Amino acid sequence: MKRLFTGLQPSGQLHIGNYFGAIKPNVDLFVDNEGLMMVADYHALTSLKDSAALAKNSIENTKDYLAAGLNLEHAILFKQSDVSEHTELAWILDCLVPISLLELGHAYKDKVAKGVEANAGLFTYPMLMAADILLYDTDIVPVGEDQRQHVEYAREAAKKFNNAYGETFKEPQEKIDKAVAVVPGTDGQKMSKSYKNTIPLFGSRDEIAKAVMSIVTDSTGDKPANVYAIHKLFKSEAELAPVYEQNKGSYKALKEALIEDIDAFISPMRTRREAISDEDVKAILKDGGAKAKALASAKMADVRKKVGVAL
Ligand code: TYM
Repeated sequence: MKRLFTGLQPSGQLHIGNYFGAIKPNVDLFVDNEGLMMVADYHALTSLKDSAALAKNSIENTKDYLAAGLNLEHAILFKQSDVSEHTELAWILDCLVPISLLELGHAYKDKVAKGVEANAGLFTYPMLMAADILLYDTDIVPVGEDQRQHVEYAREAAKKFNNAYGETFKEPQEKIDKAVAVVPGTDGQKMSKSYKNTIPLFGSRDEIAKAVMSIVTDSTGDKPANVYAIHKLFKSEAELAPVYEQNKGSYKALKEALIEDIDAFISPMRTRREAISDEDVKAILKDGGAKAKALASAKMADVRKKVGVAL
């Protein structure tokens, strides 16, 4: 059986880009595969400096994965900061990769271009992500397109370590679902919290309506491209064809249809979510943290010996 590993930053309310790009494909994969799903709270610290918000997002996002149907028989669900081996290995990997490699990071360059503070954590972020993945002898990393380069960097870090100290880490492969590799936001760019163009996954109907009504439409053509690109996630093109034919040119009616479809899709998950308490989440993360720690500490014992810090 192949081992999966994936992670999501608890940097805010999850949006439908996270859902279709990562949560749904993961929930589907964990039906027949085993692995780990991580709340990447130390990654979120690169951009989020509000401690109450970080703690709240970690709980709320975990509820989202559970509400989406994550199979806990096959997935160890845990929080990054509960397994200190992640930051420990990240340091060792930082000492192996050249600055020039990190300088080529798209995510880093994009975030800085959008005005996110260029702190050292944001710069070395790919090596913390490499550590996340490599610690567990991961085979497959299911992610959205924007994380492809980070998985390449994890392979690069594995190679560098193996060359320097002998065969230790497996080289992981990314798995990117083509149909949803980049879910567009309300402005047509990649949907992203940092671009403020999101549609919240578990927002109230009003929040969803507000976001959908703000989708940028062009004044030419009868099919508003940005509305349709999002609508396609919720209904097949065959189901959408008559709706778009009947409402040709009426962008408001099409947006209202989209609001209905999003609401109908989310509603059963919303009900499931309401039944999950903060205490349930804490117990699940504690249990997952202990399981992840057992795997990670065994791997780090080998790594420590190999680099020469275990005396
Ligand atoms: P993050 O938190 O930005 O996003 C979580 C997942 O959602 C996907 N995603 C999208 N997919 C399609 N369209 C979009 N608009 C969209 N926005 C987000 C992302 O590709 C990702 O799969 N560095 C990672 C978190 C991480 C991680 C890991 C992932 C930390 N360690 C180890 C995998 C393995 C991140 O910032 O994802």
